Amino acid sequence: MKVIAINGSPKPGGNTYTALKAVCDELEKNGIETEIVNVGNLKLTGCRGCGYCSKNNGKCVLDDGLNEIAAKVREADGLVVGTPVYYAGINGTLKSFLDRLYYTSSASMRFKPAASLAVLRRSGGVTSIEDINRFFLFSEMIITPTRYWPVIHGQTPGQVSLDTEGMQIARGIGNNMAYLLKMQAESKVEKPAMEPKETMNFIR
Ligand SMILES: Cc1cc2nc3c(=O)[nH]c(=O)nc-3n(C[C@H](O)[C@H](O)[C@H](O)COP(=O)(O)O)c2cc1C
Repeated sequence: MKVIAINGSPKPGGNTYTALKAVCDELEKNGIETEIVNVGNLKLTGCRGCGYCSKNNGKCVLDDGLNEIAAKVREADGLVVGTPVYYAGINGTLKSFLDRLYYTSSASMRFKPAASLAVLRRSGGVTSIEDINRFFLFSEMIITPTRYWPVIHGQTPGQVSLDTEGMQIARGIGNNMAYLLKMQAESKVEKPAMEPKETMNFIR
């Protein structure tokens, strides 16, 4: 079993990375392989809404690294997304990444365990995890339960380690996601069938 952890921060060794590493360390202790993928330092542009991916097996027309990461996420059994809080929301590069990841790969996400976390100096944590969880809910992912909202405090790189309660929440995400993954691996229950999609807009 493998979990991909997405680091939205432009800082590959910053606070978001430190928090994601704590999640991944617990998953690894449970025998689950992990990989942290930095997206915040890539030059990812926003979705063009061109529809190319829907006609080309989920391949994005833009050649900037998204397709390679999307392939990893599709193959993975679970997904963790971490963001630094920028103006009480997720950072811009992560938003571009998630729009395109979910537009190209939403169908592969169904019932996979997912978790979000936000790191921040002071305010805007809960709105930021809600920004990420909306992607999970749209794609019928199972949101990993946490002991408290997964918001961890720190400003300069490494400071999140001082938020001992926050780091405990991060470890809890790893353990709880491992539990969900093991339950799924042992379950004989079939996933519910999907009805053909009903699409309706409000233009009459
Ligand atoms: C453009 C920008 C906007 C920010 N906005 C907020 C904010 O709204 N609330 C907050 O508490 N911290 C804010 N911060 C601080 C970062 O969230 C904080 O330093 C975080 O630990 C950075 O994580 P990183 O090291 O993984 O990049 C902001 C930082 C930047 C650069």
